[in-house]
Amino acid sequence: MNYNNLVYETDGPVATCTFNRPKALNALNTETMDELAHVISDFKSDNSLKVLILTGSGDRAFIAGADIKGMVGRPPLSARWLSEHGTKILRELETIGKPSIAAVNGFALGGGCEVAMACSIRLASTNALFGQPEINLGIIPGYGGTQRLARLVGAGRALEILMTGDPVNAEEAHRIGLVNKVCEPDALMDEARTLAGKLASKSKPAIELILQAVHGGLEGGLDEGLTLETEKFGLVYSTEDSQEGLSAFIEKRPADFQDR
Ligand code: CAA
Repeated sequence: MNYNNLVYETDGPVATCTFNRPKALNALNTETMDELAHVISDFKSDNSLKVLILTGSGDRAFIAGADIKGMVGRPPLSARWLSEHGTKILRELETIGKPSIAAVNGFALGGGCEVAMACSIRLASTNALFGQPEINLGIIPGYGGTQRLARLVGAGRALEILMTGDPVNAEEAHRIGLVNKVCEPDALMDEARTLAGKLASKSKPAIELILQAVHGGLEGGLDEGLTLETEKFGLVYSTEDSQEGLSAFIEKRPADFQDR
């Protein structure tokens, strides 16, 4: 498929999706969201692909938010659809069963911060700027920001970010747990590819069960989460990779995972 707003590339087990509307600081219009949905579906169905990296083109922005030009003048039901559509796509990304890495190379505002938060891991360049500035537009986040931000950084900090609309720089984002690592801009993609390579070297079914246990567990109480983990722990023992990994340790050799 030819994309107008994204560049989608694969290199071995690693796929990279680059948001590519630099003139609009990679803002997410409906076409871009539809293209993202297509990328996610392609990545999901290709068994040779194990990790997806998301980043932004140019040196200024990851994504500066949902495209405000497409948000003006919508009646409430149409605004509801916009939110529902984007939320569904990002939830699919989060629950796809394969890890995703946001390589945040500049503005990650509004929907951009929400895309990053739907990824499994966030890396940020020193010039990255996070935030949910919707309050300054008189609206609220619509792609999961109120939910994922509170889960990542706690309700107190999330409420401050959401209600002030103030941006958070990379260092502060790292301090509060919004990003996993901060790197120099020139090193960001190398860091992302190295991390992707590391994740791709692990047992694919074991990674999938971790993602299911973490995301499934976040939905319920602690007891439900612990039960879920126990179920996944039993299930991972049905894979050949679990026997290989355990035996390799005892035999003092590297594990040779076959993803089954
Ligand atoms: N939507 C549409 N266009 C955008 C955009 C957005 N979110 N962000 C930037 N742009 C466009 C600007 O309109 C401008 O286009 P023109 O040259 O055609 O005028 C171009 O990108 C460059 O932007 P600026 O001239 O504003 O650049 P700057 O360096 O002065 O400021 C910025 C950069 C601080 C990121 C500023 O552009 C900005 O505040 N953008 C909006 C950020 C925002 O509010 N995001 C949340 C959107 S709502 C949302 O995301 C809801 C949701 O949860 C789904």
